[in-house]
Amino acid sequence: MSDIQSIRTQALERLEHLSTLEDAQTWEADYLGPKGAVKLFQRSLGSLSAEERPAAGRAANDLSRELTEAFAPILERLQAESLTAGMASDSIDVTLPGRTPTVGAAHPINAMIDELIEIFAHMGFQSVFGPEVETGRYNFDLLNIPADHPARDVWDTMIVQAPNAEIIMRTHTSPMQARTMERMEPPVRVIVPGKAYRFEAQDASHEWQFTQLEGLMVDKDVRLSDLKGVLQEMARQLFGPERKVRFRCDFFPFVEPGVDFSVDCAVCDGKGCRVCKYTGWLEMGGAGMVHPNVLRGVGYDPKVYSGFAFGLGIERIIMMKYGVNDIRAFQANDLRFLERFAAAGA
Ligand code: PHE
Repeated sequence: MSDIQSIRTQALERLEHLSTLEDAQTWEADYLGPKGAVKLFQRSLGSLSAEERPAAGRAANDLSRELTEAFAPILERLQAESLTAGMASDSIDVTLPGRTPTVGAAHPINAMIDELIEIFAHMGFQSVFGPEVETGRYNFDLLNIPADHPARDVWDTMIVQAPNAEIIMRTHTSPMQARTMERMEPPVRVIVPGKAYRFEAQDASHEWQFTQLEGLMVDKDVRLSDLKGVLQEMARQLFGPERKVRFRCDFFPFVEPGVDFSVDCAVCDGKGCRVCKYTGWLEMGGAGMVHPNVLRGVGYDPKVYSGFAFGLGIERIIMMKYGVNDIRAFQANDLRFLERFAAAGA
């Protein structure tokens, strides 16, 4: 009799603390199962005396019923709980805040190239693209820079294939002048956006890879004033209607006369500030009237045709327009820099 009391106390005590379905199954096996404590007790009844047996048998049956009844609602609750737990981990919580998708944007250099293509398209210039690995013939010879000319030293060249430095990385986009003219008859009106390479010591304003925009116009009666008008219009569209363009004498073997051209600083309105290094002007590139030797080299008659050419640094334009002070930022792949332009819609 004391046995059945202790089975009951222990079973009810453990029943109260069941917290998982697995616990419940163990409990059921321990007390109500075929090898459970109640069954074992019933099997041991045979060893009792005839007087004790009926009462003990009844007590065992009562306990079996009591435990079965007490266990049923607890089992039901634990089964329900385990079902909803599974559903919660499988389902989507529609109340969570959404994840913003990452949207890509054009690199600032490509965005500026697109802007320039658009500006020049309105002035009748088509865009052409050329090889970045060039021959000395197009990079130098056809641009009036002979093999022994000291001007070849101006462009510190990356050589792809020696000897004679014949296969090189183009040091400017100007080789496309000759390539374009060889392929077509005047009138020629093209721009050439693209990469150029120079063997440079890198600093805040020099990179060994950079991007240029070449321009070339050849026709009858093309004059320096046409060059001025085209560059003036470009500056107006890029930086606003008040901008002025300045030309100063400069030397490039493939133009005569040659100039460098600057735009007055949009940050200080030409008064002088840190961006323009207190000069009031920002230098954009070189330009000039196409040298007669260049025209002759591609079979154009310099007595019939004349033209202008210019070359500008695309990174420099972006640096001026957006106040970027280190050219290395363009290749550094720092998202904080690139996202500035994505946000500006550039
Ligand atoms: N190719 C020259 C440079 O890279 C720029 C230039 C282009 C000058 C066309 C004159 C005419 O420095």
